[in-house]
Amino acid sequence: MKIAVIQGPNLNMLGVREQNIYGPMSMEQIHEQMKATASQNGVELEFFQSNLEGEIVDKVQECLGEIDGIIINPAAYSHTSIAIADALAAVALPTVEVHISNIYKREEFRKTSVTAASSTGVITGFGPFGYHLALLSLTQIISEFKAMQEQQNAAAAQQEESAAN
Ligand code: DQA
Repeated sequence: MKIAVIQGPNLNMLGVREQNIYGPMSMEQIHEQMKATASQNGVELEFFQSNLEGEIVDKVQECLGEIDGIIINPAAYSHTSIAIADALAAVALPTVEVHISNIYKREEFRKTSVTAASSTGVITGFGPFGYHLALLSLTQIISEFKAMQEQQNAAAAQQEESAAN
């Protein structure tokens, strides 16, 4: 199982930026922790960070046919980017949107995420632990989805076989 972790603008500054809001952990440290969980669960992770909206759109598009699910923190673009929302809707992969801070506890403009409706679910306010929760929940969702697909394929094959006899 392959999961892409897509980090939006300024998340490369974690550990430096507004530590009172985002805590002391760097993005790389968060990714290291995720790698440990992923390897225990047989999950392959691919990491990507960009400060540019179009690059994030490109990355989401590239996931189609290559990746089983997406963990994305669109950061400030969560509040503005119809382009990222459309890209997520277009690829239609199981997706968890993560916010380190609780966006509902902050300024009015942060309380709306335009990208969230394109996600399976949203985790907000649990600090860097939110990425861990996202990884566990997405792994579960993808496993269930794959099992359902296998069941459907087996049922279809059985139907074909009995129709042929
Ligand atoms: C954020 C919340 C956004 O409002 C902000 O612009 C970020 C980070 C979070 O993880 O809490 O850059 O997505």
